[in-house]
Amino acid sequence: MIPTGLDSPSLPLLVSTPADLRAATATLLDAARSRAADGRPSLGLVPTMGGLHAGHAALARAARTADDVVVVSVFVNPLQFGDQADLERYPRTLDEDLRLLGAQGADLVFAPAVEDMYPGGEPLVRVSAGPTGEVFEGAARPGHFDGMLTVVAKLLNLAQPATRARYRAYFGEKDAQQLALIRRMVLDLNLPVHIEGVPIVRDADGLALSSRNRFLTDDERSAALVLSRTLAALRERAARGEPLDLAAARARITAEEGVDLDYLDVVDPASFVPRADPGPEPHTALAVVAARVGAVRLIDNMALPAPH
Ligand code: PAF
Repeated sequence: MIPTGLDSPSLPLLVSTPADLRAATATLLDAARSRAADGRPSLGLVPTMGGLHAGHAALARAARTADDVVVVSVFVNPLQFGDQADLERYPRTLDEDLRLLGAQGADLVFAPAVEDMYPGGEPLVRVSAGPTGEVFEGAARPGHFDGMLTVVAKLLNLAQPATRARYRAYFGEKDAQQLALIRRMVLDLNLPVHIEGVPIVRDADGLALSSRNRFLTDDERSAALVLSRTLAALRERAARGEPLDLAAARARITAEEGVDLDYLDVVDPASFVPRADPGPEPHTALAVVAARVGAVRLIDNMALPAPH
């Protein structure tokens, strides 16, 4: 264990092996036990791939607000990248990430090497995402969700408190299909953890924060705004009880130069089965969009309200 917090008290502890993670969480939970009203402290895990931004900071803050011990994992998971070039290009910014996490009050960062996570080499046994993992993002990135669920299951197991404690894990709502699949995995496999979704963080002009935004040129960034604007227009139509007219919404995105639309649809947020209309219950319909802007694939979503 490298106690990076010694000279700068705001930096979290950094560990890289599962054994050190277990030892450090046990120590932190023991210290928190005497402070917890019922002697049962809580551990909040925030799984990330690094390249952190304000969206990740919101995840860490949500955990800091609710939990006694906050653990953040930083691991670029090769299993969820279909494309080697995309894996190599993924930003690796551990020093900056540690500073950002320290500022949110995270206690511990688990940043394993690939060999620490996959000591047996490429895993032969994996979690299957099933049919929900084959549509939308899953259709664009075959195998992505199996690889994502496999590493999330491993991370949830590795950070699981060994002693009596509450256990929560935090994921951003921007990756809505990922979040739906993680909730389903926890339900289907009885994983002893409570999953918390954290709202999307947007720049002032509406662009959803993403680690990939840093690869956009200024012109591409301006063009990308059509995604959040189109979703917001759909949300307004839904609130007014007007027909959504997805064809017109798709045409608006397609007309934007440099934006190559993959999909724009309205789905059930749990199953990702397309829905014809928002339905009577609030938050039962989610508008989802994906497009390539220049070389960067972006996704976004907004919940559609029931008409008021
Ligand atoms: O959302 C991400 O950053 C990743 O998919 C996750 C959940 C950390 C798994 O690698």
